[in-house]
Amino acid sequence: MSNNIRPADMKRISTPELAEAFIAEQVAQVRAQVGDKKVLLALSGGVDSSVVAALLVKAIGKQLVCVHVNHGLMRKGESEQVIEVFQNQLDANLIYVDATDRFLDLLADVDEPERKRKIIGGEFIKVFDEEARKLEGISFLAQGTIYPDILESDGVKAHHNVGGLPEDMDFELVEPVKLLFKDEVRVVGRVLGLPASMVERQPFPGPGLGVRCLGAITRDRLAALRESDAVLREEFAKAGLAEKVWQFFTVVPDFRSTGVRDGKRAFDWPVIIRAVNTVDAMTATVPEIPWAVLQAVTNRILAEVPGVCRVLYDLTPKPVGTIEWE
Ligand code: XMP
Repeated sequence: MSNNIRPADMKRISTPELAEAFIAEQVAQVRAQVGDKKVLLALSGGVDSSVVAALLVKAIGKQLVCVHVNHGLMRKGESEQVIEVFQNQLDANLIYVDATDRFLDLLADVDEPERKRKIIGGEFIKVFDEEARKLEGISFLAQGTIYPDILESDGVKAHHNVGGLPEDMDFELVEPVKLLFKDEVRVVGRVLGLPASMVERQPFPGPGLGVRCLGAITRDRLAALRESDAVLREEFAKAGLAEKVWQFFTVVPDFRSTGVRDGKRAFDWPVIIRAVNTVDAMTATVPEIPWAVLQAVTNRILAEVPGVCRVLYDLTPKPVGTIEWE
């Protein structure tokens, strides 16, 4: 498909001026493609879908219907940010679906990582499909496909299960950033006025915290994971590491270890800190994090996160370890 090939003379969008020109061109193109019809978009809050949403709001306003499915495995504050930015600031048409209970009920007692991924991906499609069927007059489906998705797979976004959409949905696709690389999508997002915390976001797996709450997910361990991850992100940002480290997060295993708290024996979970640098996620190295930062993270997690009595830093490069633990 020729329109899926980036023209050899296409300029790299590296400046706000080039982004402005790209946006103007896409706005015109989308308006011509869509006319007065409605467009549906699964808005995860990740960089690509957020930039597509902002671009389409600019082009067609309320003709865009965004659906944000909260699968209960989002990081702290993420769904709230989607609502704040798109509903409150950009005045977008946003349907927010809190499907936390559905996902967590289905995942209870499931400890095999690939089954967890399948359940999360399958349920995501189901919830999105249900929402789409409630709507009337939708003719187009927008997707945050970017050029690496086309190069690396068959052009289907999120080949990792989550974000795929029902196959029988008979919509014409709107994919305004499909010829852009990630850094270009970020420049476009900034020019569209999206907050840096959204545009500069590190990669986050589709199954979210689900593959970092090891084994069978429980709500209390998931809460410990979400809180410890938020502490890590805050402390890395404070130390100026957020832009220097490619991906960082916490992991909570499904076993306990002994500790002492307030003079009494505790039997609580460990939290593992994972931080990696990589170019393409195929191999990764572990950065040397200043001791003071690791100590600050450790002290805060132990003081602020219930159910945790130990903090570890994972020194394993990829290979042999993968970036995620599951
Ligand atoms: P691994 O663990 O394979 O991770 O070294 C490489 C990169 O891929 C991300 N990852 C996923 N992303 N769905 C996703 O959308 C998944 O199931 C998934 N598993 C891993 C991981 O976060 C890292 O950036």
